[in-house]
Amino acid sequence: MSEQIVLTGIKPTGTPHMGNYIGALHPLIEMAKTRKTFVFIADLHALNIIHDPNQIRQHTYEIAAILLALGLNLENATLFRQSDIVQVSQLSTMLMNVTPKGLMNRAHSYKAAVEKNMASGADVDAGVNMGLYTYPILMAADILLYNTDVVPVGADQKQHVEFARDIAGYFNHTYGEIFKLPEPVISADAGIIPGLDGRKMSKSYDNIIPLFAPESELKKKIMRIITDSKLPDEPKNPDESTIFQLYRQFANADEIADMRARFERGGMGYGDAKRILFEKINSVLSAPRAEYERLMSNTSELDNVLASGAARARAVAEKTYERVHRAMLG
Ligand code: ADP
Ligand code: TRP
Repeated sequence: MSEQIVLTGIKPTGTPHMGNYIGALHPLIEMAKTRKTFVFIADLHALNIIHDPNQIRQHTYEIAAILLALGLNLENATLFRQSDIVQVSQLSTMLMNVTPKGLMNRAHSYKAAVEKNMASGADVDAGVNMGLYTYPILMAADILLYNTDVVPVGADQKQHVEFARDIAGYFNHTYGEIFKLPEPVISADAGIIPGLDGRKMSKSYDNIIPLFAPESELKKKIMRIITDSKLPDEPKNPDESTIFQLYRQFANADEIADMRARFERGGMGYGDAKRILFEKINSVLSAPRAEYERLMSNTSELDNVLASGAARARAVAEKTYERVHRAMLG
């Protein structure tokens, strides 16, 4: 059996934060150490959220620079920009014709928008554009274009991968066995990383710590993490502490056990715990941060990496698209 093809996409809709790193980027880098992987920056999927091209461009560079600074293996990983491969838009148009509208009505993100509108008494489709409505078809095109076997995604994206599989099935039923049927793989749960206010760290809550914030900003953000009002002497529960939840992602097993004991024993104030957390994160991230800053200061190296990734991706995309075109149009 030939090697399985792994593919995943990352949407450039914000500056990546610690939650994105721990939940998505770090696992991806680990996977690309041993497996051939297509990794793309889903700029077309960002279009129904961000309307400023400079922002999309900036976030695209940030994601590429983060992946490279953290050592993404570029022999195994083909890193590219979604919009550089025109075949994905062409394939999306083709797939529209085998995709039942009812399937799109069932998509979680569309249903959520409809339910919100109904609750507020607005027209059911208020604020919904066709980019949102057909989002799963473009995502199916992403997946099917590269003959993907497995798609590692967060649980929120599982339905989209199942739709891609359904759409491939409908297509094959009409036109013959052109597409492989992809499988979602839900990434081992890294847990939900809390943000500064204790809720899930998310760009929507304005509670993030950017992964590569400059040292002074990193320190400021960490000192701002909300805690309960326990005094230094009191024992504290590490499992309910944002400080400890972040610390355990960066420290080694002995350090984690030691920190847990200090929480539980009492005698360490939250201010001290935050300082220890800052020192740890700063020491782990300072070398990759310097590399990130170097890459971002002159984006021509990033342009080159993305261009050579696109050339590799295009070679595969052209072949798949040609088979689709022949099957549908002769
Ligand atoms: P945000 O919530 O900031 O909008 P996204 O929804 O764009 O983040 O998430 C992109 C990826 O990062 C997803 O794979 C998601 O599972 C992961 N991720 C985002 N926030 C967290 C978090 N707080 N903890 C763990 N993983 C996260
Ligand atoms: N929709 C995904 C997200 O919001 C990003 C994405 C686009 C993707 N195309 C993909 C993920 C294809 C996996 C495979 O995070």
